[in-house]
Amino acid sequence: ENISIIGFPMDLGSGRRGVDMGPSALRIANLERRLRNLGYKVEDLGDIKIKIMEKQRVGDPKLRYLNEVLKTSLTLARTVEKVLDKGNFPLCIGGDHSMAIGTIAGIAAHCKKNKKSLGVIWIDAHADMNTHETTPSGNIHGMPLAASMGLGHPSLVNFYGIKPKLKPEHCALIGIRSVDIEERKNIRKLNPAVYTMSDVDKLGIHRVISRVLKQFRQQVDHIHVSFDVDSVDPSIAPGVGTPVKGGLNYREAHLLMETIAECGCMSSLEVAEVNPILDVHNTSAVFAAELIASSMGQRIL
Ligand code: ARG
Ligand code: MN
Ligand code: MN
Ligand code: MN
Repeated sequence: ENISIIGFPMDLGSGRRGVDMGPSALRIANLERRLRNLGYKVEDLGDIKIKIMEKQRVGDPKLRYLNEVLKTSLTLARTVEKVLDKGNFPLCIGGDHSMAIGTIAGIAAHCKKNKKSLGVIWIDAHADMNTHETTPSGNIHGMPLAASMGLGHPSLVNFYGIKPKLKPEHCALIGIRSVDIEERKNIRKLNPAVYTMSDVDKLGIHRVISRVLKQFRQQVDHIHVSFDVDSVDPSIAPGVGTPVKGGLNYREAHLLMETIAECGCMSSLEVAEVNPILDVHNTSAVFAAELIASSMGQRIL
C-alpha cells in the first residue's frame, strides 16, 4: 500500500502560534522512515502553501482568518481527493485542526464519486463543534466537525460543494473533556456518538474503539480517523495547541491506534495540533509519529 503524506502548516485556525511547525516536527520525528520500516511505500507531497499570520488580516472576529483558511483548505481538499482517486492512503499532518475542513471535504468528494458512505472517528479533547454563533474564541479549529455535518457558517458548510459531508450517525468522538457551554447545544442538535474521557475511564479504551469500529465496518465504506494530539494527556504530549488535563495515557493512546490497525478498515488519517513551541525536545511529535505507526500496524516500539 502507498501512503501519501500531505503537510498542512496552518496556525490561522488556532489562537496560539506554533502549530504551523507541526508538519516539520513530525518529519523531524522520522515519520516517513517509521512507515517505510513497516513495509509501506511512502511519498511526501510536501507542504501546502499557507501565507504566514503576519501577512494576513484577521477579518471577522467570530471567524478569524476565514479567507485564508478557505483558500488553503481548497488546495488541501483537492490534494486529498486526488490521492484517494489514485488509490493511495492520505496521511495529512498539521497544523491546527481547521485542516479537517479540507481533509473531510476531499474525502467526501471521493466518496460521493464512488458511491461510498463516509464515517469519521474524531479523537480529541474538544468536540470542535462550535459555529461562528457559539464560538467563544473565533478560532476556526473549534468548528470543523460541526461544519462537516452541516452546521455553521455557509462558507464552511457549503465548502467544496458538498453539504453535509458527514452524517452525524456516522461520526464518533472519543476522548472529549472540554466542551463550551453553547457548543453543547450544537452537539445535542446533531447528536453524534460521544465518548468522553469519563466513558473511556469506565468502559476502557479498547471497548470504546471496538464498539465504534464494529458499527462503522457495517455501516460505512470509508473510515477516516481525525486525531487531535491534545486527546492525549499533556503529561505525555505537552506540545499541543490547546492542552487539557485528564487525557489518554500512553498505552491507552497506543491501544486505541493499534485496535484501529487491527481492524484494517481505516482509509485515511490526519494528525493535528502538534505544537513544537510548547514542547520539550520534540517529545510530542515523536509520540504522534509513534501513534501514527501504531495505527498503521506497528506493535513493538
Ligand atoms: N472549544 C474551543 C474553541 O472553540 C477550543 C477548540 C480547540 N480545538 C482544537 N482543534 N484544538 O475555541
Ligand atoms: Mn481538535
Ligand atoms: Mn483538541
Ligand atoms: Mn447509514
